[in-house]
Amino acid sequence: STTPVKVAVTGAAGQIGYSLLFRIASGSLFGPDTPVELRLLEITPALKALEGVVMELDDCAFPTLSSVEIGDDPEQVFDGVNHALLVGARPRGPGMERGDLLEANGGIFAPQGKALNKVAADDVRVTVTGNPANTNALIAMSNAPDIPAERFAALTRLDHNRAISQLSSKLSVPVTEIRKMTIWGNHSATQYPDLFHAEVGGRNAAEAVGDQQWLEETFIPTVAKRGAAIIEARGASSAASAASATVDHVRDWAQGTPDGDWVSMSVCSDGSYGVPEGLISSFPVTVSDGAWSIVQGLEIDDFSRGRIDASVAELEEERTAVTGLGLLG
Ligand code: NAI
Repeated sequence: STTPVKVAVTGAAGQIGYSLLFRIASGSLFGPDTPVELRLLEITPALKALEGVVMELDDCAFPTLSSVEIGDDPEQVFDGVNHALLVGARPRGPGMERGDLLEANGGIFAPQGKALNKVAADDVRVTVTGNPANTNALIAMSNAPDIPAERFAALTRLDHNRAISQLSSKLSVPVTEIRKMTIWGNHSATQYPDLFHAEVGGRNAAEAVGDQQWLEETFIPTVAKRGAAIIEARGASSAASAASATVDHVRDWAQGTPDGDWVSMSVCSDGSYGVPEGLISSFPVTVSDGAWSIVQGLEIDDFSRGRIDASVAELEEERTAVTGLGLLG
């Protein structure tokens, strides 16, 4: 198709934006034959820096980039967008409690949800990368009553990719041998990366590892605390890998998942696997024709059940907190 796909990115002048925009503009989401129109949202004081990023986008002369618009008004920037990548968020400052963090982000994601509801294209798909991603997605979704709930998702693809990478190095196999990785629950330290349903070269991954202690004491915490390890090493939070995971997530949502595999996405629960309805929680999903479905029928043993329940309990607490703050529309 030659009609450009309109892609909005918020927080476009930030770290993730500096990597993400160039991947999108070079055709990573929809391939070399589909032009994209970028719509970039920032807060007013960051617009000047964003103009500099746009100068660099121009200087790449990307064949797939049809135009770029920037602004600080969500209703203008989101007008007619087919994909909205909500990256900009309020980070936790010194002395900020979780309630303060949720409230500050509600002040961003409630109005952005309302703006999307009003002006986005009928087929809009909304991906929330900005943290706390799951609950920010819940806030945006509940403030956009005319957009079907299944068009909102939060990013757990970075955790998914991290889990694949850890398993690949543990077993000295290429990442291409690994299928059916799952992240369950919240994009936080309580997340549960599940090897019991993953496969390595067609074999069950937990069996291939054959070491429950490594799984519990090394694999799960390494994946769950990877973000903190990167901050410790780099002095800044993961940005290029978060951008790359955002690209993977949006690309697969648009183009579908391969046969015989699935991906992790945080989506609105229908009650599957005992996750309360309406929570945005990470599941194994397949995508076809632009619509995701939660993989059904996986057997969940007691170990996995406990881990999933703990992360889902955290999501419920966050939902209770933002409900109490009046942030759900
Ligand atoms: P950053 O601080 O470098 O950039 C964020 C940008 O958002 C800033 O330029 C800021 O001006 C902008 N912004 C703030 N409020 C805004 C609003 N109301 N509208 C539009 N823009 C707004 O942060 P970075 O490193 O790019 O990370 C962005 C978010 O992604 C953070 O919340 C971070 O925690 C999260 N993240 C999520 C990951 C995931 O796997 N889900 C992984 C890594 C980061």
